Amino acid sequence: MKINLRKGEVYDSKGSILLFMTEEQIKNLDGKLIDLIDASIHAEDFKGKKNEKLIIPIVGRSFNRMVLIGLGKRDKLNNEIFRGAAHTALQLFSGLKVKEFSTFAEYDVDIVRALSDGFRLSNYSFDKYKTEKDDKFIRIEKIDMYVHDIKSEFERAINFSEISCDATNFVRDLQTEDADTVNPEYLADLAKSMSTKYKLHLDLLGRSALKRNGLGLLLGVGQGSRFEPHLIILEYKGDPSSKEKIALVGKGVTYDTGGLNIKIRAMQEMNMDMSGAAVVLGIIRAAAELKLKKNIIVVAPVVENAVGVNSYKPGAILDSYLGKTVEIGNTDAEGRLALADALAYVVKNYKPTQIVDFATLTGSVVAALGNDYAGLFSTDEKVDKIISSGNYVGETVWRMPLPEDYNEFLKSQRADLNNISSVPEAGSITAALFLKNFVGDTPWTHIDIAGSAMRNKSKNYWPKYGTGFGVRLILEWLRKN
Ligand code: BES
Ligand code: MG
Ligand code: ZN
Repeated sequence: MKINLRKGEVYDSKGSILLFMTEEQIKNLDGKLIDLIDASIHAEDFKGKKNEKLIIPIVGRSFNRMVLIGLGKRDKLNNEIFRGAAHTALQLFSGLKVKEFSTFAEYDVDIVRALSDGFRLSNYSFDKYKTEKDDKFIRIEKIDMYVHDIKSEFERAINFSEISCDATNFVRDLQTEDADTVNPEYLADLAKSMSTKYKLHLDLLGRSALKRNGLGLLLGVGQGSRFEPHLIILEYKGDPSSKEKIALVGKGVTYDTGGLNIKIRAMQEMNMDMSGAAVVLGIIRAAAELKLKKNIIVVAPVVENAVGVNSYKPGAILDSYLGKTVEIGNTDAEGRLALADALAYVVKNYKPTQIVDFATLTGSVVAALGNDYAGLFSTDEKVDKIISSGNYVGETVWRMPLPEDYNEFLKSQRADLNNISSVPEAGSITAALFLKNFVGDTPWTHIDIAGSAMRNKSKNYWPKYGTGFGVRLILEWLRKN
């Protein structure tokens, strides 16, 4: 989709025109718009309530249709309302099989950005396996946004929106794909092609390198699979003069059967258990396209948790890269194992100044927060900036505690740690505490996206299945800080 900023009057454009209106604007309308439109608004009793819509056919003008979308009350306006309104409009045009339209965008830069994000995130559907053309979503190809002055800040916002939303949609595709297609080897190959395309430094550890280096937890998880596990490390150096280095680590379990502790619920969604890896790959791609002045290392353990004769066993004791031994209380708590080795490896070999990890780690975080919030755990004193970036883009996170006392639940009789808690409560907290053992003193933020990475119902500009949650959050944080 192309979004153009255009200088001039939207009423001079051709085709369909889209206008967003608050309830106050509708009340005070008389005489301010073309008579015909005023009359239609009255006849249809359009009030401008949030996401209310009205289609008005027009004759005798350069444009032939006007669409009004309500924004609700003026004092309740925020970025999320504009993204939602953009979604409502886009669905409506798509339903009308209209592939382009014009709109008015004489707003501040935040609203231009929110509208553009809303349009781009809604112009998405995973329909590549639909063989009937009629089953495919009609995509919008072009939107002209009219302003009186094309300010450079508007252009920057439009460009940032395009790159960050395209990365989000790329992540959604990876998440939602079939798990025998997006397997660990596929993601390793993707990392290779990304390193060439975006000029990123790549370190790729396959099974023998993982063995040589002693990443026993990651190897254990991958033992039962016909696909070779890998540790992907991609580096983007946007600010060679700075010592700061941000590690973005993502759980890449391409399918989670649970292992021998086989899943009894929702296994069919576990093709999306590599969401964390997809998110960090999406971020580094966008960072390179945006030429952000940041040093970023993306780390993704990619592995399949399969059932087979070679699968790791409940009760096994594994050696971690860090040196701590881990007793396997449950083979379904595999994400923390793969991540623990990845975290310890990047800390020791790359010495990042800050770590953020993304993982579809626990069912508990879904129970606690649902789909609209990710659970955030942090030892980083500057974490508020991540939280506020999430609020700005509508990828909201909720901070959870990391109580020292709960470490007791991760004790093992036979090894240094158990991979599951001895109590059923606070499962996302004990999972985070498990990871904390492997990051040393590096300021660290863990984001549990088990609920927000995937949805079983679409909502607004969020599709069913993979959502790409996290990409825009981190890109906004990198842009602002
Ligand atoms: N991949 C799952 C977590 C998950 C659950 C993601 C629901 C998305 C939706 C993870 O590997 C897992 O199985 N976690 C277990 C841990 C338990 C065995 C301690 C869980 O949360 O039930
Ligand atoms: Mg699991
Ligand atoms: Zn998992």
